[in-house]
Amino acid sequence: MCATGGPRCRQPCPDAEGPPINANQRAATADPELPAPRSPDAPSSWMMTADDFPLTERDLHVLCRTFRDYTELDHWLPGGEQYRRRAYQCFDLATARLAEDGPGALTAIDQPPPYVQSKQVNPVAGDIERTFKLIPPEHPATEPTRQIATAVARLLAANGVLSVQTTPHCLVDAHYMRLLAPGHPAPEGKHRDGLIAGSAHLIQRTNVTGGVSALYDRYDPDRELCGFVLENPLDSYVFDDERVLHYTTTITVTDPDAGAGLRDVLLIGFRKRE
Ligand SMILES: [Fe+2]
Repeated sequence: MCATGGPRCRQPCPDAEGPPINANQRAATADPELPAPRSPDAPSSWMMTADDFPLTERDLHVLCRTFRDYTELDHWLPGGEQYRRRAYQCFDLATARLAEDGPGALTAIDQPPPYVQSKQVNPVAGDIERTFKLIPPEHPATEPTRQIATAVARLLAANGVLSVQTTPHCLVDAHYMRLLAPGHPAPEGKHRDGLIAGSAHLIQRTNVTGGVSALYDRYDPDRELCGFVLENPLDSYVFDDERVLHYTTTITVTDPDAGAGLRDVLLIGFRKRE
C-alpha cells in the first residue's frame, strides 16, 4: 500500500473541470465529537491493491456473486433513476482488539441502526433514515468483507486516524454498490461522507468507460490531491474523511454490442459508535 501520490496515481484527474462542489461542504465545520485534526503533513489518503488483502479467488467469486444476486434497486436515488443496485452490512469494531485479534475485532450486526447522513454532506439523500437490503451475518460474503474492513482498519490505526483513545468503538458500514452504465458513482458531486474515514474497493468492472476517481483537499476543494482509475479486482483507495473530498466520474458503456456495462464497488465507512 502507499500514500496517494505514489506511482499508481495519475495527476491531474482527467475530469478535473467537471465535478461540482457542494458549496455548503466547503465551509463545513468538523464534528466536535471526532478526533482533533492530525498533522497537516500526515497522509490523508492511501492506495491498496489485492496484495494488501488476504482474499482468495474463491472469496472474490463469493463477492462477485453477492453483487450479482443479492443487491437490489436503490430506491433513494433522485428522480427515480434506476442505475444503482445495492446491499448493506454493518459491523461493530472494537479498536483495542484490532492489533491482536485482527478480523475478530469486527462483529457483524444482525439488526443495524438506519443509515443517516446529514443534508450538509449528502444533499441528494441527507437527513433521511435509509435502510437497504441487509446481508445477514451468516451470509458467505461476510467473511471476505470483514477481512477487507480489517485491513483498512489496521491501515487507519497505523496512521492515527483510528485509535483506542479517540475511536474505541466504531460502526463499520459496508455498502455493496452495483452501478449499471450509464450511471453516476457520485451524484453528490465532490463530497465527504460525514464519517471518520472511508474506503472504496473495486470488485469488478465490465465493459465501462469512465469511473475516474479523484481526491481533493477538503479545505481547498479546487486542489486535487490525486486522480486514478480502479481497474483490477481489489484496487482500492482509503481516505481520512475529515480531510479529503472524493468524487468519481460517470461511467458509460464501452461497447454496446458487448452487453451491459457495470461497476461493482464495495464501500466501507467508519463512524464513531455512541
Ligand atoms: Fe462518498
